[in-house]
Parts: sequence; C-alpha cells; structure tokens
Amino acid sequence: MKKLVIEGGRELSGTINISGAKNSVVALIPASILTKGKCVIHNVPAISDVDALMDIMKFLGSDIKYENETLYIDNKNVENKNIPDKYASKLRASYYFMGSLLGVYGKVNIASPGGCVIGSRPIDFHLKSFEKMGAKVKEVDNSFNITSNGLKATEVFFDFPSVGATINVMIAAVRAKGVTRILNAAREPEIENIANFLISMGAHIKGAGSGTIEIEGVNTLGDGEITVIPDRIEAGTYVIIGALLGKKLKIKGVISEHIDSLLYKLKEMGVSFKINGDTIVISKCKSFKPVNIKTTVYPGFPTDLGQPMSTLLTQCSGECVFEETIYENRLRHIPYLNAMGANINALDKKAVVFGPSQLRGRKVKATDLRAGASMLVAGMIAKGNTTVTNVEHLLRGYERIVDKLNDVGGNIKLLDE
Ligand code: EPZ
Repeated sequence: MKKLVIEGGRELSGTINISGAKNSVVALIPASILTKGKCVIHNVPAISDVDALMDIMKFLGSDIKYENETLYIDNKNVENKNIPDKYASKLRASYYFMGSLLGVYGKVNIASPGGCVIGSRPIDFHLKSFEKMGAKVKEVDNSFNITSNGLKATEVFFDFPSVGATINVMIAAVRAKGVTRILNAAREPEIENIANFLISMGAHIKGAGSGTIEIEGVNTLGDGEITVIPDRIEAGTYVIIGALLGKKLKIKGVISEHIDSLLYKLKEMGVSFKINGDTIVISKCKSFKPVNIKTTVYPGFPTDLGQPMSTLLTQCSGECVFEETIYENRLRHIPYLNAMGANINALDKKAVVFGPSQLRGRKVKATDLRAGASMLVAGMIAKGNTTVTNVEHLLRGYERIVDKLNDVGGNIKLLDE
C-alpha cells in the first residue's frame, strides 16, 4: 500500500495542467469494442483505471497501446470472452463492457463491477434497460450472464438520471435495430464526449447532454477518434486548493462552464479568481464566508467535489451545511477531518461544519477516491505534516497529483506504507 506525507501551509504558485477526464475515458475505452475499425483516443490520463481497462481490452484480444497520453486501439481480433472477477472488480466502469459486447455480439458474461464503497451502487437501471432491449439477464455467482438474439431499439426512462446507465444504454443502442430513446438521461459533460466518439465511428446519436437522447442503430461502424474532455473534478479539486493556498496559481486546460456550480459557490464565499479562456487564476482568500452545499446531478454541485469541498468549508467563518444527496455513504472522511481539528457534526448524509478551524497534521486514511482528495486538501492546509494512507484510491483518479502539486510549491512525498 502507498501513503502520502504532506507538509502543510505551503504557498502554491505556477501552473497546473488539467488532464483528461477519468469518468469519460473509462467509458470511451470499452465503447471502442463496438467497432472492428481502428480507434485513437487523445488526452488520456495516466491513471490506474486506464491500466485496468487496458488489461481487460488485451484479455479480449484488442491491440491497444498507450503512448504520449494517446491510446491507439485496433479491435479486429477481439473475441467475446467471459470477463472474470479479477478484471471486472477493479473498477465500476468495467460494466461498460456490457453495453459494447451486447451491442456487437448480443451477449456478454462479466463479473460484478468494483468501485468506491460510497453506497450500495446497484446497476438495476442498466440491467432493466438491457432487458427492455430484448436481453435476458441472469446473475450467477457474482457474474452477469446477459443473452439476446440481437438487441432491439426501445424507449427507457430512468427513475434517476444515472450517468453510468445513460452511457451504457447509449453504447448498446448504437448497434440495436431501430431508434432507442433514453428519457430522464443524465446530462454530465462526459456523456456528450462519449456520444461524439460513437458519432465519429458512424453512430447516429442526437441529444447527448440533454435529458432526452435518441440513438438510431447502425449495422457497421468504422474508425473512431476522440479527444477526452478536461477532468472537471480534477480541475475543481485544484481550484479548491488554490482558494486555500494559491498565489496567482494557474489551473490550465479547464472548461470552466463544467464547474460553474463550484465557481459560483467560491464567489459566494468571497474567493476571487480570474478566468482567461481555459485558465483559471486563483489566489488564497484571507477569510471565507460560510455557504451551504447540496450535491446533485449536473449542472448542480457535483457529488465528486463534495468531499474536497467539505475540507474548504472547515475554513469558513461560521456555520456551513453540507448535504450529499447522490450516495448513501459519502461522508466517511468527516471523522478524519475532525481528528485533524475540524468541528463537524455529521448525521446520515448531512453535515454541519463550524469554522474556521486550524487543522493539525495527523495520520489519516483515504477511504475512497474523493475522500482521499479531501484528506489531501486537509494535509495541504494543516499545521505540520499529515500522513494519508491507502492513497491507491487517490492515484486512481488524479494523474500525477504529487508531481503537479510539488511543481507549484507543494512538499508531498509518495512512499510505501
Ligand atoms: C458516475 O458513477 C461516476 N463514476 C461517479 O464518480 C459519479 O459520482 C457519479 O457518476 C455521479 O455523477 C464513473 O463515471 C466511473 P450513477 P455512476 O449511475 O455512473 C443510483 C468518482 O469519484 N443508481 O449516476 O455509478 C446509484 O446508487 C466516481 O469519480 C441506481 O440506483 O453513478 C447512485 O445513488 C464516484 N441504479 C445514483 O444512482 C443504477 O442502475 C448515481 O449513480 C445506477 C445508479
């Protein structure tokens, strides 16, 4: 296991370049299975989730290479094999192979997906949609065996605008006969990025990014090419750090509209920053006004920024109410913040944060990816040194996070535990 040792209180200046979006690339890679043509995916972050997906692709027979943040993929020799637990359980996004293998072969057998333990994380919306497209779903020994005589177009309505289910059904529908409509679809920016990749191969998709997506099935697909959009959660995490420690810190390669909700809240807190095209320039704020945060679906305040944001809330002069509405169990970082000197009362999915608190370096743990981000932010502002263990979680979703922060003045060491 790996740990971070972070020296707190260091001023940060210089430029942090934002990488490609984890939650886009983890769908783009499985989606490439839809075509026997060649695919090129640009701006791919070097994160362990990409490695895990490349392992699955190679297992299926794909010729996939990663050079200079670009993936070169040739799936002409891909076969439909049962994807075992050792691959599928590495990450939640392995479930996107359901959509693409079903789309091409009409059947798929894959072990249950993995993912951060932030809630029960069912995949019923995905499975019910596949059944509506004519597939039969059997769950046997922690694996899903899904068969069909070829998927049929249909109309699905999601009780909750699920990101994963929207993407999975969109991928599967590309090869289903007829026009599939997804109602109450998720609108996260990654969805449009994936749709554009599918369209580049020859798919007919309308409405990606809106609440209604129409996919007209096609028989053949050709070569595909896409550039992964900037990671809005990585960008938001560094903006939060900039508000706490920046000295004209530049965060470059951002689509600022994708984090409008965060930027609005920072303005409400009294944080000033400048947006110059794709670069946000931000300096530390002397005192923060309290705000309330309620996470929700895009374009609301993203659940993935809730945990790092809750660390910033500990520095507000007054009382902030933080509410997580997407997952049942995404406040597991709070006890560690309190151990560092924060004053937070958490109950169920709500937390009341009293501040400002002087955080002190402690040994803490990353319980999941974004909890790890929360601990990193806390360590960056705490008095003294903070050790964060289990940081494999963090490294899954933030490319070269230690180098990026040390390059602008941080003092963080990545060590074996
Ligand atoms: C994606 O997860 C992201 N992961 C998550 O980011 C992100 O938090 C989430 O979207 C919401 O934005 C990836 O893209 C790999 P959902 P996903 O389906 O697709 C319930 C990170 O930190 N639900 O929108 O799994 C579910 O329980 C990760 O990068 C069902 O009930 O999210 C949850 O309460 C964490 N049945 C809610 O919907 C289903 O079939 C949101 O889930 C599917 C979901």
